Amino acid sequence: MASALRRTLLLQHARIPTVRRAFSTSITQRQTVSPGDASQASSDSSSSTAVPPLRLSKEQREVLEEMIRVDQAGELGANWIYRGQYAVLGSDKKVGPLLQHMWDQEKHHLKVFDGIVSQYRVRPTALRPIWEMAGFALGAGTALMGKEAAMACTEAVETVIGGHYNDQLRELLKIDHPDIAELRKVVQQFRDDELEHLDTAIDQGAQRAPQHELLSNAIKQGCKAAIWISSKV
Ligand SMILES: [Fe+2]
Ligand SMILES: [Fe+2]
Repeated sequence: MASALRRTLLLQHARIPTVRRAFSTSITQRQTVSPGDASQASSDSSSSTAVPPLRLSKEQREVLEEMIRVDQAGELGANWIYRGQYAVLGSDKKVGPLLQHMWDQEKHHLKVFDGIVSQYRVRPTALRPIWEMAGFALGAGTALMGKEAAMACTEAVETVIGGHYNDQLRELLKIDHPDIAELRKVVQQFRDDELEHLDTAIDQGAQRAPQHELLSNAIKQGCKAAIWISSKV
């Protein structure tokens, strides 16, 4: 079932090839990304060569800024969701290591988008403390409801975020500009990581959570609202 949902999300963007584990090198060729923050950080990520701002039209730049802002905010929220889940379930022998692995990936995602935000001089979301609190509350709250509810939270969040990254890839394809290629690779890679989290959540019993449908729909709506708000504010 996990694979079927994942395949559906991937097929939504079938024209874009899946890029796995290859972005760290490519992104660090252009972006400032500090080393050692997450397990995937590549050995050459200490590179801090400054690059000039993208040579884009005003319209392209506006689209790009909105994307980068919302992605950074989303990765921030994801970090705090996993922080909240780990605070409750981190000592669980089975779920704890899975949460830690996914959290490590989210730490890496955030680190990369922090670098992109500063490199391309994008205004970050003004709502950072709110996303942190909301993320932690969602993560800890669902974890307190049980392992399946925690996984249902991950399933719902990653379904929305996987679709969101797919939408962005479609938009990025419309921007015919060589400078966009690296960002596209990052978004592709992170989309793949999020869909792995989705697989993990379903495999770990997300859909056995009490009131799964209700919980899932509420979290999905919340995520969509957060995406819209953080693209603007
Ligand atoms: Fe992420
Ligand atoms: Fe994720």
